[in-house]
Amino acid sequence: MTAAGDLDGRVALVTGAASGIGAATAAHLAARGARVFATDRRAGGAIFRHDVTSAADWEQAIAACVARFGRLDILVSNAGTAGAGPIVDLALDALREQARVHVEGAFLGMTAAVAQFRRQGAPATGTIVTVASVAGMKPIMQTTAYGTAKAALIALSRAVAAELQAAGEAIRVHAVCPGGTRTPMTEALFDDAYWADPANFAEVPLRDYCRPEDIAEAIAFLASADAAALAPAALAVDGGWLLSNRI
Ligand SMILES: NC(=O)c1ccc[n+]([C@@H]2O[C@H](COP(=O)([O-])OP(=O)(O)OC[C@H]3O[C@@H](n4cnc5c(N)ncnc54)[C@H](O)[C@@H]3O)[C@@H](O)[C@H]2O)c1
Repeated sequence: MTAAGDLDGRVALVTGAASGIGAATAAHLAARGARVFATDRRAGGAIFRHDVTSAADWEQAIAACVARFGRLDILVSNAGTAGAGPIVDLALDALREQARVHVEGAFLGMTAAVAQFRRQGAPATGTIVTVASVAGMKPIMQTTAYGTAKAALIALSRAVAAELQAAGEAIRVHAVCPGGTRTPMTEALFDDAYWADPANFAEVPLRDYCRPEDIAEAIAFLASADAAALAPAALAVDGGWLLSNRI
C-alpha cells in the first residue's frame, strides 16, 4: 500500500513542472521519496529549461537528469497548453499547435525515455505517465481542438504500451485524464465571479474543479509498485465530469 517513501530512490522527470498539475506532481513524487528532475519551457529556480516540442531539448533534459541522478525510472509527460474556440472556425495552425505540444511533444518524450530505459538494462523497466484530459474522451464545448489532440495522446499512450508489452519489456505506459482542474491554465479562462458561483459546478458530482494534488496522487499511484497489476490505463480523475451532463 502507498505510503510516504514508496517511491524511494526512483528518479522521475516531470515536464511542465513550473505550474499547476506539473508543479503539484513534482512536489508529491518528491514527498513520496522520488528524486525529481523538474523541467519546463519556462526555466527558473530548480526548473531545467526544456521545450517538449524539441527533440534536442529532450536529449539534453534526459542527459542532464541522468548526469544528476544516475538514471531515469519515471517520465511524467505533463506539459501542455489550452486552446479554446469552435473547431470548425479554427485556423489550421491553431489545430497544429495543439497536436505539436500534446502529441509530438509526448511522442518525443516517449521515444527518448524508452531509449534511456533500454540503456539501463534488459529487460528494460520504467513507467511513463502522460497527462491527457477528459476532453480527449468526450467532446467538451470550446475545447474540441485541444480534445482532438488529447484523444490522439490517449491513443498514442495505449499504442506504445501495447508495443512495449508485446516486446516483453517491463515498461508501463498510462494516461491520466483530468477533468476541470483549478490551475493557472483554467484560472486564466474565467473571472472571480465564475469561480464563486456554485451554479457553474452544479452538473459535476464533485461540485468543484479537481485540485492539482488530486491529479498528482493518481500519477504517483500509476508510477508506484501498487499499480503493477494494472492494464495500460486511461484513468479519468475528474470528479465525475465524464459521466455527467456537463459539456
Ligand atoms: N487544468 C485543467 O483543467 C486540465 C484538465 C485536463 C488536462 N490538463 C492537462 O494538464 C497538463 C498541465 O496543465 P495545467 O492545468 O497544470 O496548466 P498550467 O498552464 O498551469 O501548466 C502547464 C505548464 O506547461 C508548460 N508548457 C507549456 N507548453 C510547454 C512546452 N512546449 N514545453 C515545456 N513546457 C510547456 C507551461 O510553461 C506551464 O508551466 C496539460 O497537459 C493540460 O492540458 C489540464
